[in-house]
Amino acid sequence: MTKMKLWGGRFEEGPSEIFEQFSGSLHFDKRLIGADIRGSQAFARALGRVGILQAEEVDQLCAAFAAIGEDAKKPAFFDGAGDEDVHTLVIRKLKEKAGHLADKIHTGRSRNEQVSLDIRLWLRDEIDAAKAELADLMGSLVSLGLRYPDAVIPGYTHMRRAQAVLWPHYLLAYFEMFARDWERLDQARARVNVLPLGSGALAGSGFPFDREAIAADLGFASVTRNSMDVSADRDFALDFLYAASTTMLHLSRLAEDWILYSSEEFGWLELGDGVTSGSSLMPQKKNPDSLELIRGKSGRVFGSFSSLYVTMKGLPLTYNRDMQEDKEPIFDAADQLRGCLVMAKAVADSIKLNPAKPALAAQESWVVATDLAEALAKNGTAFHQAHQIAGRLVLESIRAGKRPSDWTAAELCAFAPEFTADMVRLMNPSEGMKTRELIGGTGPASVAEALDAAEARLKQLR
Ligand code: ARG
Repeated sequence: MTKMKLWGGRFEEGPSEIFEQFSGSLHFDKRLIGADIRGSQAFARALGRVGILQAEEVDQLCAAFAAIGEDAKKPAFFDGAGDEDVHTLVIRKLKEKAGHLADKIHTGRSRNEQVSLDIRLWLRDEIDAAKAELADLMGSLVSLGLRYPDAVIPGYTHMRRAQAVLWPHYLLAYFEMFARDWERLDQARARVNVLPLGSGALAGSGFPFDREAIAADLGFASVTRNSMDVSADRDFALDFLYAASTTMLHLSRLAEDWILYSSEEFGWLELGDGVTSGSSLMPQKKNPDSLELIRGKSGRVFGSFSSLYVTMKGLPLTYNRDMQEDKEPIFDAADQLRGCLVMAKAVADSIKLNPAKPALAAQESWVVATDLAEALAKNGTAFHQAHQIAGRLVLESIRAGKRPSDWTAAELCAFAPEFTADMVRLMNPSEGMKTRELIGGTGPASVAEALDAAEARLKQLR
């Protein structure tokens, strides 16, 4: 028995087994079946409006498509299917259910536009889900900040203790990155949410479809403006992959921070048992595998982005079969992104901070040096001299084995005449932070406001 194809009249011989195996995409593009059915139902209605199908025929086809959708929920549905791709499978199933009527469904339609349509419908849902999951993670970061609003940690540059910040201020840094990621996903969605149907293979359909009406039917915001562009381009998917990659980049850095901060060396925080694993050999181990996998999967998503990028480079207009290679990276990036967002939220929810540890790390280091230099500058010493004085104070302290808290007011004033007795209070990292009260700073009032604002912004996103 020869397999049903959407082409074949022009051929004297069928495709070889080797070529069929090599070129078939059903094993991965079957994930588009829901989108293919939705798009095909809308197309049947469009065929009704241009008079190719009678109203009853439209209803009959739409019902048959719906029945295929139901069948597709059964686990064995795809077993043994040897169709070239999901579009071919759906039409074969339609013929089984609707007989000859099914022969009209592909009137004035090409798989080139259909594949663009299906990916857009699929991605739109995935982006919506990812946006919601990202907002949930951002909510968990805010909650984690609110659980320890006054905790002081050393912030780092070059992985060296730099200046003291509040724990929520640190978390809100990621909130901001994720807020931009949310925007990027939303912007990608806007590019995805454009109807390609009506473009035909590349020249525009030969039937006078009201494309605006099809767009409204499928919930698209607008219609594409050039049929060749539709067959040729995948930049809407690249926009998604870029947004996904940047989100993964931020997730990976968050994972890296928390792997460090939960280590014995730092000891700042404890990850929940539920998000860690043990060692088959070493009984004492509690490993941050969830975070390591987030970090690891970020590389995989960047790979998906570059994979499609490179696939598209150098293709002559318009459609080329190379473009079938678009789907696996898109699917995998969406899966990994969504999996990581949910995982990261679970990790955030499980975290117990031990505030004494980072507070001690701040107190024992010279994160207050900038505060001292700035205090001198506020009293009239030029900043360059102030920097020198504070630097010498640090050097002297290191030589003498003194921590900031070991200095008395009298000693400080004796060290350099520019110091005043009240400046000794700045030896406590929490004091210097109070000078950083401005938008975006770690001053306690600014951070409290930023937390409130973050909660309000989250409400807008949800
Ligand atoms: N499976 C194909 C793809 O994903 C569908 C489009 C096929 N079009 C064609 N002209 N061969 O790209």
